[in-house]
Amino acid sequence: MARDRNPVTHEPDLHAQEGDRLTTAQGVGVDDTDHSLTAGPRGPVLLEDRHLREKITHFDHERIPERVVHARGAGAHGVFRAYGNAASVTKAAFLATPDEETEVFVRFSTVLGSRGSADTVRDVRGFATKFHTREGTFDLVGNDFPVFFIQDAVKFPDIIHAGKPEPDREIPQAQSAHDTFWDFIGSHTESTHMAMWAMSDRGIPRSYRTMEGFGVHTFRMEAADGSTSLVKFHWKPVLGVHSQVWEEAQITQGADPDFHRRDLYDAIAAGAFPQWELGLQIMPDSPDEMFEGIDLLDPTKIVPEEICPVQTVGLLTLTEAPENFFAETEQVAFHVDHVVPGIQVTNDPLMQGRLFSYLDTQLTRLGGPNFAQLPVNRPRAAVNDMFRDGMHQQAVHRGVVTYKPNQIDDDRPVTEPDGDGVFVTLPTPVSGEKGRHHPVSFTDHFSQARMFWLSLTPVEQAHEVEAFTFELGKCLRQEVKERVLKSLARVDSDLVRRVAAGLGLPVPEGEVPDGVVPSPALSQIPAEPGRVD
Ligand code: HEM
Repeated sequence: MARDRNPVTHEPDLHAQEGDRLTTAQGVGVDDTDHSLTAGPRGPVLLEDRHLREKITHFDHERIPERVVHARGAGAHGVFRAYGNAASVTKAAFLATPDEETEVFVRFSTVLGSRGSADTVRDVRGFATKFHTREGTFDLVGNDFPVFFIQDAVKFPDIIHAGKPEPDREIPQAQSAHDTFWDFIGSHTESTHMAMWAMSDRGIPRSYRTMEGFGVHTFRMEAADGSTSLVKFHWKPVLGVHSQVWEEAQITQGADPDFHRRDLYDAIAAGAFPQWELGLQIMPDSPDEMFEGIDLLDPTKIVPEEICPVQTVGLLTLTEAPENFFAETEQVAFHVDHVVPGIQVTNDPLMQGRLFSYLDTQLTRLGGPNFAQLPVNRPRAAVNDMFRDGMHQQAVHRGVVTYKPNQIDDDRPVTEPDGDGVFVTLPTPVSGEKGRHHPVSFTDHFSQARMFWLSLTPVEQAHEVEAFTFELGKCLRQEVKERVLKSLARVDSDLVRRVAAGLGLPVPEGEVPDGVVPSPALSQIPAEPGRVD
């Protein structure tokens, strides 16, 4: 389907550039676009020049705010084909129906840099996928790491303020090597595991095509027979996982700041379509939402694949670069809360905060409540939401009934709790005292950071040490470095000794603090080098 057509009505999209003649926005032919209307050859420019005013006014308003995080990105269209084997865990048609093909749009991104920053910086990468399913839109808004820095959404503004360029001089741009970032990491031991991933080779991927992706949070899936499971999403690149080395990443930042986006577009243009398999880790839906001693609601924890293998359930293929970066890559709006029947959110406190944040920010970024009507966002399922009016309304709604119940139109549109493709919230029990709780199962901040370190090969460990040494070496304040070293001492004595030596600082005392609860499952993992994945 050509994308200059409305995917629902198949009518030409409004305001596609048509015809050979230059016109005003009102469609009137323009006589000359190179010279302003002036009073005589050397006289003042006349206010009457409507073409000049209209052209400049529109230009003045061409920019919209960049995303508050993940501003730098690149996207592509593609298709997702389900293997059908996920039917045993979810009734979501796009996963459960064998060979069902679903149109997708994927946007990859860095997190901290602004829209014009370089691609190959050390950072987390976003991996967001919009599935235009026949049952409505499902967005998998993931990252290329399986864990996150914080456990509770209330800290998200803090970690981002600390990681973004410092507010006085606005440096460093798109790098985490500065005092405020490491002050946050050293002050939040829950961030240690994610910091280990960020300082590993995973922080400098070779290509978007060679990155894994993770939903991070645990989701609840519901099968057609009503059974439920707790599930984590994984993207496995068909080309395997590859990184740059640090020197390479620095050179490509200078030589080609568009390195990753160019690679994505070039691969697609050459017909080497990037592919990922979608995988699921499927765990029993237990009342405590734990698996082998791991709290599934804690987004700083993985479930090791050795104790819960990833089962692949479909194939994603990216086939088409955007025709217009702004219309597609900039205006696409992902939201963790865009779920379809068969996939439900859980009480992970980070996830719960995200359910609020995305729509809220997009109301500003995309100018009001009607951005779901933009071609890249428009659901491929029929929409009948009774929402009306608002900024940038494109639709001409028909009829007089915009309320329910109504007797004028037989109470249409109908709600059908038992209908196909209808989302019904699972009746999960909720109880407890209101309060700002900190569950004991969230207090183990080091055992998985250690597991990650032990999973690295000697070369990968050397890269990790060099990255910590380089990044902390950029910090100006001694106490910031010392606090991070204290956390590293709780991860591994060899790691902290090598980083401290690189920084020329003493090795801090490394005692496991009170309250650390090692996950029982971790004892099952051999403490030998090898990959976590
Ligand atoms: C983008 C908030 C955690 C992945 C964004 C945006 C906001 C945001 C406001 C910009 C959205 C836009 O302007 O359209 C938050 C909050 C979080 C959080 C409040 C925690 C409380 C996470 C986590 C992940 C993630 C844990 C990964 C699992 C992404 C991605 C994007 C994004 C991939 C870019 C989407 C795109 O390409 O348009 N986030 N985020 N975020 N976030 Fe989060």
